[in-house]
Amino acid sequence: MGRIPEHILNEIQDRCDIVEVISGYIPLRQVGRNFKANCPFHHEKTPSFVVSPDKQIYHCFGCNSGGNVLNFVKEYEKIDFIDAVKLLAEKTGIKLPEYKRENNEGDSIIGSIYAVNDIAADYYVKALEGSGEAMEARRYVEKRGLEKNYLKTFKIGYAPQGWSSLTDYLMKRGVNIEVAIKAGLVQKGKNNSFYDLFRKRLTFPIFDVRGRVLGFGARVMDDSSPKYINSPETIVYKKSQNLYGLNFAKPSIREKGFAVITEGYLDVMTSHQYGISNVISSLGTALTMEQIRLLKRYTHNIVMVYDADQAGEMATLRGLDLFLEEGVNVRVATLDSGHDPDSFIRKFGPRGFSERLKRSNSLFTYKLGILNKKFDGRDPETMAEIVKEMLTTISKVRNAVIKAGYIKELSQELSIKEEAIWEELKKTKKIRSFRNAGPDGRVAGKKINISPAEKILVRLMLEDGNVINRVKQDLQPLDFKNPDIKHLVEALFDIGLTSDFIDAGKIINYLEEKVEPYVISFIVNEEMEIKDKDRNISDCIRTIQKERRDERLKDIQNRLVTAQKNGYDDEAKSLLEEFNELIKRRA
Ligand code: CTP
Ligand code: MN
Repeated sequence: MGRIPEHILNEIQDRCDIVEVISGYIPLRQVGRNFKANCPFHHEKTPSFVVSPDKQIYHCFGCNSGGNVLNFVKEYEKIDFIDAVKLLAEKTGIKLPEYKRENNEGDSIIGSIYAVNDIAADYYVKALEGSGEAMEARRYVEKRGLEKNYLKTFKIGYAPQGWSSLTDYLMKRGVNIEVAIKAGLVQKGKNNSFYDLFRKRLTFPIFDVRGRVLGFGARVMDDSSPKYINSPETIVYKKSQNLYGLNFAKPSIREKGFAVITEGYLDVMTSHQYGISNVISSLGTALTMEQIRLLKRYTHNIVMVYDADQAGEMATLRGLDLFLEEGVNVRVATLDSGHDPDSFIRKFGPRGFSERLKRSNSLFTYKLGILNKKFDGRDPETMAEIVKEMLTTISKVRNAVIKAGYIKELSQELSIKEEAIWEELKKTKKIRSFRNAGPDGRVAGKKINISPAEKILVRLMLEDGNVINRVKQDLQPLDFKNPDIKHLVEALFDIGLTSDFIDAGKIINYLEEKVEPYVISFIVNEEMEIKDKDRNISDCIRTIQKERRDERLKDIQNRLVTAQKNGYDDEAKSLLEEFNELIKRRA
């Protein structure tokens, strides 16, 4: 990270109580001295996310995310560390010194990718406005009815047809071409040549929530295919984590209390142009958990408006179940066949569109309608099929009253006894519980590999400075196997506290990301009852010493075999001495 002095990080922490900050994002429930919640970083039904006000640390024992208040804000807001610091500093009125981002490799490459994206966006905009060859493109946007102001707001541009127009321009400006490659704008050709990814296409910058350009989509201006080419995934552009147009739609979503999700770039632009501004787009793909979580920061009410085609209806529907799992209300609006929001608004006006939004159906009704169309028979097998499909959705409804209501409705609709449907519902639950966090964009759990002895010892050191001094006498940081723990122990030895209370949240600041914060929160937050502290310490020290000794013995043995095989007698002899020495001490 940058050079934000540790004392400032500590000061921010002192003024930001972790419980207060986190409960501003998710509801926390007090359990004993700690607070619990369903983890916001992975999908779960029983809370394993723990916040400790004493230690000023959070940790999820389901996915092993954890750290201090700054780490939380960084993870939750999906921003970089410095921005998390800024955000909390602002909240608490602490002034940050000026600093440069360039200090960190990672940060600086991210910064330069954003910068190249900006340069490219401006380049394309100018090309659309000025260049002679963009005539066709200007005619095309006019034909599509896109107004000047909106072209400007959405930074619509034109990528010239030459193989390397942008590449040449970037080179001329002295941009590092490797960065442009990392940004996905420039590709490597044969013989060290470079060429543009987007050529002879209309360009749509893809913004993040804060309006930074992450990448681009680019459309042909005729019927050729592919219709769109999009930026590849890059360090800054993660398709599954972003929603197109959210930067523009944010205020309107808050104001209206719901968001409208469409499929395409033009659906968003046209809606905005016609005064319907709470519209965003998933850019043609099924929605992910991460996108839903992102949206949840602004609203819990969503209306989906998909293009009116049959393609992948069921797949789409399955995607919608994700909303229910996330506790979001989702409704589905339908348009006349062949239309998408863009063409619909142009034909029926914004009022016609708003009318459709108002008449949107609950997911229940919408899905049942589709199923009824799909299966027209009323034989028991068909009914069972319909019930099964409906139950995958109903089982995800969190509110028990709504759930019961849907079951009643389903029973009436299909003339099946309610009890039979409840019975089937129980079965789907059993199957579902096998599903675990994993694909569809959920945060994968991190593995933490620490031996119990190391864990207990570090935990005790973090709780009591006296233990540090005690351990220091018998062990070195190198004796700890886990690399994170090694750094942590090194730091604790450095600090060399006597009996002062050690603030785990601040140790994280001290370590400046040398140690993954979740490792520390893991050690500190886990329920652990340690009875005879003194004995425990000695035992742990001895265990660690023994572990290291055994490893060294094994290592010497291996080297000894090699030395003997090769006839290195001197080396073999000294290895043997070393071996015997260690054996003696092990006894
Ligand atoms: N899409 C894509 N690649 C394609 C086709 C579509 O990435 N080859 C994405 C684009 O983000 C597009 C969205 O899916 O905006 C919706 O696709 P589609 O409805 O075909 O395009 P529209 O944006 O509606 O474009 P148009 O109205 O000009 O046909
Ligand atoms: Mn369209």
